[in-house]
Amino acid sequence: MTQEPIVLQNLTKDYGKGFRAVDDLSLTVMPGSFVGFLGPNGAGKTTTIKMLTNLLTVTSGHAYLNGIDVSSNPKGALGGVGAVVETPEFYPFLTPNETLEYLGAIRGMPKADVRKRSKEVLELVKMTEWSNVRIGKFSKGMKQRIALAQALLHEPTIVLLDEPTSGLDPRGMVEVREVLKELKKLHYTVFMSSHLLNEVQEVCSEAALIDHGKLMAYDSVSNLSTKIDSKKLEVRIADQVRGDAMDKLREFQGVRLLNIVNEQQFFIDFSGDEQAQADLLLKIQGLGYRVVSFKESGVALENLYMSLIKSSR
Ligand SMILES: Nc1ncnc2c1ncn2[C@@H]1O[C@H](COP(=O)(O)OP(=O)(O)O)[C@@H](O)[C@H]1O
Ligand SMILES: [Mg+2]
Repeated sequence: MTQEPIVLQNLTKDYGKGFRAVDDLSLTVMPGSFVGFLGPNGAGKTTTIKMLTNLLTVTSGHAYLNGIDVSSNPKGALGGVGAVVETPEFYPFLTPNETLEYLGAIRGMPKADVRKRSKEVLELVKMTEWSNVRIGKFSKGMKQRIALAQALLHEPTIVLLDEPTSGLDPRGMVEVREVLKELKKLHYTVFMSSHLLNEVQEVCSEAALIDHGKLMAYDSVSNLSTKIDSKKLEVRIADQVRGDAMDKLREFQGVRLLNIVNEQQFFIDFSGDEQAQADLLLKIQGLGYRVVSFKESGVALENLYMSLIKSSR
């Protein structure tokens, strides 16, 4: 059997008769990578993660964690795994220190280890100054950071996270993402679902795109981003946008779509190499526009995501 941290082999889940939520999913996660499991709502992300954590039985296929089949040996497979699947409930009258102490005891960790490890994980999730405050007082984002801390308590090698920022306010989201970025720097192998493309681009090293239960693409975030030959260019000009000039711009080689934001700003969906892109700038200036800025707005992966999801419909 392979020893890659996470291996999915033709993993399939039917709910009842006839509805296939996860459809013949196969993928291998390499040690130390941070995979974003990206897909729209209803794509099958939670179902997959619940099969990985043995919260749901598989219909067919296999999920292996550290080489151990989750269905046949859940205890063995999940021993080296930390997970945050559903928003966990904590006892509001306990503090983070007490909560971790209690969870450590349940997991059979020696007291001294729990104490040392609690300090480390609370630091990692930036909750040290709250370690002796009752959780009942915490915001959702803070509770989610405690959830991450408990997942890391027993020093797992694999971390499974189902939409760790969902339901958080913008500030909570930013704070949890900061913690995820810290995790990425460490040795963990992380598999994290998200329906937010920008989050996966910001946090993950690889992305596995899923839609209607099927794997659509799986590659490094940077490869996926460059694979798509269309990019979005943001142009700001010191003059007013003119209709005749925009008509001409539409005719230029590689210009797929123009989106005028306001009098001084427009976006171009452009397909072409760097030479062509440099020429495009000259052409825009040739239209009589004085260009203030001309930049890629970094949403290439969005085009891929949208086109993959469209083509699977
Ligand atoms: N317990 C269930 N019974 C029947 N259908 C379900 C159940 N749970 C989820 N589904 C359906 O399975 C599909 C995948 O759901 P889910 O795995 O929750 O997707 P995601 O987490 O990507 O939003 C959806 O169409 C959802 O409605
Ligand atoms: Mg879900």
